[in-house]
Amino acid sequence: MTDFKRYLVTAALPYANGPIHIGHLAGCYLPADIYVRFQRARKKDIKFICGSDEHGVPIQIRAMREGTTPQAVVDKYHKLMGDTFEQMGISFDIYSRTSNKIHHETAAAFFKKLYDDGLFEEKESEQYYDEKANAFLADRYIVGTCPVCGNENAYGDQCERCGSSLSPEQLINPRSTLSDAVPVKRKTKHWYLPLQNYEPWLKEWLLEGHKDWKNNVYGQCKSWLDNGLQPRAMTRDSSWGVKVPLPNTEGKVLYVWFDAPIGYISATKELTEQWGDYWQQNDTKLVHFIGKDNIVFHCIIFPAMLKAHGNFVLPENVPANEFLNLEGDKVSTSRNWAVWVDEYMKDFPDQQDLLRYVLCANAPETKDNDFTWKDFHTRVNSELVDIFGNFENRALVLMHKLCGGKVPAFHADIADKADEDLIAAFESTKTKVENLLEQYKFRDALFEVIELARKGNKYMQDKEPWIVAKSLAEKPANQKRIDNCLHVCLQLTANLAILINPFLPFTAKKMIHKLKVVEKMLEWENAGKAKLLSVGYSLREPQLLFRKLEAPEIQAQVDKLKAGLVKPANAANSAGKDAKEAPASTEEAPASPVKAEIVYDDFAKIDLKVGTILTAEKVAKADKLLKLEVDLGFEKRTIVSGIALHFKPEEIIGQQVVVVTNLAPRKMKGIESNGMILMAEDKAGKLHFVNPNNKVDEGSGVS
Ligand code: MF3
Ligand code: ZN
Repeated sequence: MTDFKRYLVTAALPYANGPIHIGHLAGCYLPADIYVRFQRARKKDIKFICGSDEHGVPIQIRAMREGTTPQAVVDKYHKLMGDTFEQMGISFDIYSRTSNKIHHETAAAFFKKLYDDGLFEEKESEQYYDEKANAFLADRYIVGTCPVCGNENAYGDQCERCGSSLSPEQLINPRSTLSDAVPVKRKTKHWYLPLQNYEPWLKEWLLEGHKDWKNNVYGQCKSWLDNGLQPRAMTRDSSWGVKVPLPNTEGKVLYVWFDAPIGYISATKELTEQWGDYWQQNDTKLVHFIGKDNIVFHCIIFPAMLKAHGNFVLPENVPANEFLNLEGDKVSTSRNWAVWVDEYMKDFPDQQDLLRYVLCANAPETKDNDFTWKDFHTRVNSELVDIFGNFENRALVLMHKLCGGKVPAFHADIADKADEDLIAAFESTKTKVENLLEQYKFRDALFEVIELARKGNKYMQDKEPWIVAKSLAEKPANQKRIDNCLHVCLQLTANLAILINPFLPFTAKKMIHKLKVVEKMLEWENAGKAKLLSVGYSLREPQLLFRKLEAPEIQAQVDKLKAGLVKPANAANSAGKDAKEAPASTEEAPASPVKAEIVYDDFAKIDLKVGTILTAEKVAKADKLLKLEVDLGFEKRTIVSGIALHFKPEEIIGQQVVVVTNLAPRKMKGIESNGMILMAEDKAGKLHFVNPNNKVDEGSGVS
């Protein structure tokens, strides 16, 4: 269906466990807002839905760390995040929260329907349990020593030092973070959604039906579907969340990724009695804006839930963005390597649009991108100020100076090709921007608007009305030339206000104020028109739209970022601030952070030598471990390595590896490991051997 009657746009519900940083904005909220503002300007019937995701382990961990309750945590951050979005002009129709009663009811009823329809599998399994705290433990709640790097504070799902994804079984000396007790296994019952049953339908609907989705999104979905889906537990043992609506289920709640996306539905219910039109009429265009770590949940699991339930629309598109890095390094909330939006607003009051501009111009639409303060500085000064702001300002200043403060007439008799070309560009830019926005290409769309302003500058520069003005005493008729130039420039200014409005709404508002037109002029259908401002209409005094950024204030931001950086040693103590729900696949494991600086002598203590793998075999009861025999020339060593999920034993025999030979021996699953082999882990979490280019003698030193 291409003829949609209404739009329903959602932006991922952020976990209410920390402030919003620029990565959040660039990844999801800003593109969603631009899209919605654009559709609203086209007078589309549209609802823009968001809210706080207030359940799940990340919130509980935060509460534990801060010595407070989960409710107190979500209350604090729900307010902070809502305020930040509002300040930045993210124009949700509702910013709700999943701790609301209406959400608990809606999510519970959704679950109950699937249960009543017999769509869940009920399964008993063994889970870790803390006998002191009397609670089941999510993987994140178990810490212990990482079998790969020896970090003593690795989590049961992941080691934040080396980036390995783990399961609690692999931790050496596991302990509960609730009480320090050693976790024991206990039987528990959960309800699983057999995702594999939806596989044929998903392949049809998604892989066949949505080839138009962005490559990064489609590719990730395809690989999930190609690998085969498995039953996924939709309940958890916990005291925080939506209670399982079945008898005798004390201590069980819905899985946060079951309840959170239903939050989109409950928030719509809260917003309007017509919620059913948006969710249940198939001429609704549902679009989910998310970051790339949410793809599987929005493209596979939630659609399967909706399909299972029946009677809901499915997403028409899920334009997920990649990640925005910061100054060349991954954003990390635990290391405080982030630009917090609430702090930006304090440091740059009323300058929302500068940030909106740079984050859109640099959006990680097709690949991870990097935000640097230097780039912020350059883009603001040389694009926003020098091109867009400069054009608008000159048009108004010159009109006041040369045309008496009124919109001059356009004299068709002396119109020339330059006038025509520029006027034609109003319309063609409108069409281009429209098409690009429909395809979720926000950067390119924005650049088209800037390009139009650049054309305006060139036109004005070529026409030189300020020079023409000098000839007026001799040739009064030349006023007509000046009039035409400024008439066109002012109509262009009005067009620019409409075109920039979805991106920079604060700027558009300032522009229409100066043009003394009402907000209605910003409706999209007015773009492309050459007669938006009436001749003879007097306009307000010019006032700069943007100010130039100065080097010291940019340097201050860089300094602030560096000064605030928490070194990894301390980061270990505060680890967990970053906690997200466990990534659903190793593909999403973050790369390892940059470690604290060391001196050469520290490095020199490490003895690295080349070895050759002689034998490799699986270690019993440890699905990630391989036992290797490595020839170092001068001796043979047994090394236990956590690479079993990546390589088959027979594949690696004969491979050369770099070995840390003087690492203290360590027992894993009863086997003493004498050293460690170096591996490189790429962004997708795949391991690669680090070995010499050509075969070298065993025992060769590496330095
Ligand atoms: N809270 C999740 C995150 O920050 C996103 C939830 S999106 C929803 O990654 F669909 F579940 F709401
Ligand atoms: Zn580790």
